[in-house]
Amino acid sequence: MRRAKLILLASASLLLACSNRKALDKEALMDPAACQGCHPDAYREWSGSMHAYASDDPVFIALNAFAQRETNGEIGDLCVGCHAPMALHVGATTDGLNIEDVPRRLRGVTCYYCHQIDRIEDDHNAAFHLADDDMFRGGIGDPVDTEAHRSGTLAFHDGRRGESSALCGSCHDVRTPSGLQLENTFAEWRESVFAQGPSPVSCAGCHMPGRSGPVAEVPGAPVRRLHDHSMPGVDVALSPWPEAPEQLQAIQRDLRRAITATLCVQPGTLGPEVVVVLDNVLAGHAFPSGVTHARRAWVELVAFDGEAPILISGVVEDDEPIVELEDENLWLMRSRIFDEDGTEVHFSWRAKTMETTLLPAAVTSDPTDPRFSHSVERSYPLSILPSKVRMRVQMRPIGLEMFDEIIESGDLDPAVLDSVPTHILAGTEIEWTDADGLGCVN
Ligand code: HEC
Ligand code: HEC
Ligand code: HEC
Ligand code: HEC
Ligand code: HEC
Repeated sequence: MRRAKLILLASASLLLACSNRKALDKEALMDPAACQGCHPDAYREWSGSMHAYASDDPVFIALNAFAQRETNGEIGDLCVGCHAPMALHVGATTDGLNIEDVPRRLRGVTCYYCHQIDRIEDDHNAAFHLADDDMFRGGIGDPVDTEAHRSGTLAFHDGRRGESSALCGSCHDVRTPSGLQLENTFAEWRESVFAQGPSPVSCAGCHMPGRSGPVAEVPGAPVRRLHDHSMPGVDVALSPWPEAPEQLQAIQRDLRRAITATLCVQPGTLGPEVVVVLDNVLAGHAFPSGVTHARRAWVELVAFDGEAPILISGVVEDDEPIVELEDENLWLMRSRIFDEDGTEVHFSWRAKTMETTLLPAAVTSDPTDPRFSHSVERSYPLSILPSKVRMRVQMRPIGLEMFDEIIESGDLDPAVLDSVPTHILAGTEIEWTDADGLGCVN
């Protein structure tokens, strides 16, 4: 029912611009490099994004190869369906094993793929229909004519419209062959306050901020809202890649604002304690979201008596897996996945069930609703009141222990590990000292 409505909305708002034959041939339409001359900003931003990198990522290549072997090929085109959808679409690959030989223009999530979507058939696993014509769909509304391609407007490509979240959502919700709902960013967004009301905040509304400028570098092009295509999240390129320093900076900028922290020191009912409260204020979904079985976000906290630490939690070296820390107080935000025997596993295709410890998104803006407060708190017991406490939240795109098996199997070069960053969420760096008095600081 909902699906039928999506399709209807799509065709109702499609305006055909101009039907003359256009200059770019099929191969050029599919080649991001052919857009660079007229859309230099979109091209530059996209070229550094994880969308462009999605099938160059050495971890992706290694995991896909490992999965194909372990499932005797049953995993099929699942992974490339989202990570190299154009290569699959034109038949340049069936299983991604030859991805390094596929022409560059077909790798990753490309301009053509997103801008040719004219129908969305389901809400997960990249169930898209492509028009495969010479028209690029966007959100402009009154595009000027160009000799390069036709232009058309579709709600799916207009970040001001809630429907546009479905364009991101069908890739950002992943269901495994066993039916496990592994990645749930779209489902989380749909339940959140951001999806509600007359003017919802779409994925693009947050992830593609606008600025003024011409959409195309051609004479007479009007000044419009130009939307950022770099889409920084958490993940970074692990091999040399364009725009890498800019991506890292943007990730840290966005992570700084994503969640807030409050640090309290109090006598407690069972003895002195430190209480940490984390609030997912800005993510339109859980935090972390998406590949949460790989993500590791955790609280680092140290309490001192004078110079002597009396409680240490979540402190690891840069090359040390956080899950291997022996730390009964550790606050780790992630998902754990289990096979049919209930044994914890690393890889999604082995998983049947999942448990999560994520920070939920806001679901209502009504302060009288009991669900209004969605912050999460943890207590750290102490033997004596401290004189100083320091905390911060840290995050890794992928847990270092996830690499063990794919390194052992020879699929992944261990040197890749050195490039996995540990992000510090600067907005959660807090220090309490006894000068603040018992109570909370943030
Ligand atoms: C010769 C210049 C030129 C080239 C090359 C070009 N475009 Fe465009 N494109 C334009 C112009 C002009 C517009 C309309 C701009 C406006 O109205 O402000 C446009 C608009 C668009 C839109 C918005 C459509 C809408 O109605 O919202 C998309 C999406 C787009 N182009 C994608 C691409 C892609 C992808 C490529 C590369 C395969 C490409 N363009 C190559 C000139 C070009
Ligand atoms: C992951 C999907 C995706 C990919 C990949 C993508 N775009 Fe877009 N693009 C969008 C969405 C969504 C919008 C509309 C944003 C909005 O309205 O908030 C957009 C908008 C545009 C526009 C209209 C102007 C604007 O900024 O709103 C142009 C032109 C464009 N994209 C060109 C490109 C080019 C060129 C590439 C490749 C180099 C590309 N896009 C890759 C999703 C994508
Ligand atoms: C064809 C599938 C597809 C579509 C459509 C798509 N994405 Fe993605 N997206 C991916 C894949 C695959 C990755 C991960 C690439 C990687 O890290 O190797 C990704 C990565 C991202 C990231 C970075 C995640 C991180 O942890 O660093 C963000 C943010 C993002 N996408 C937002 C969006 C938004 C917003 C839209 C809609 C405008 C969208 N995506 C549409 C497949 C897609
Ligand atoms: C209200 C703003 C907002 C909306 C709406 C929103 N996001 Fe996010 N998103 C964020 C923030 C803030 C973060 C955390 C900072 C970061 O990772 O860049 C984030 C993180 C992410 C990430 C990184 C995953 C991780 O580990 O946290 C992905 C992927 C993503 N968003 C995709 C989406 C998609 C797809 C949608 C729509 C279904 C969406 N977002 C809607 C704000 C938003
Ligand atoms: C329905 C689309 C979809 C399918 C199917 C899919 N992925 Fe992804 N994958 C994504 C998206 C979206 C992201 C980024 C999400 C985020 O950052 O939260 C991602 C991220 C990743 C990452 C980056 C993890 C990190 O944190 O650095 C790897 C590696 C990966 N996927 C491998 C695979 C493999 C291997 C398969 C097949 C077994 C697969 N994916 C199937 C959409 C998909």
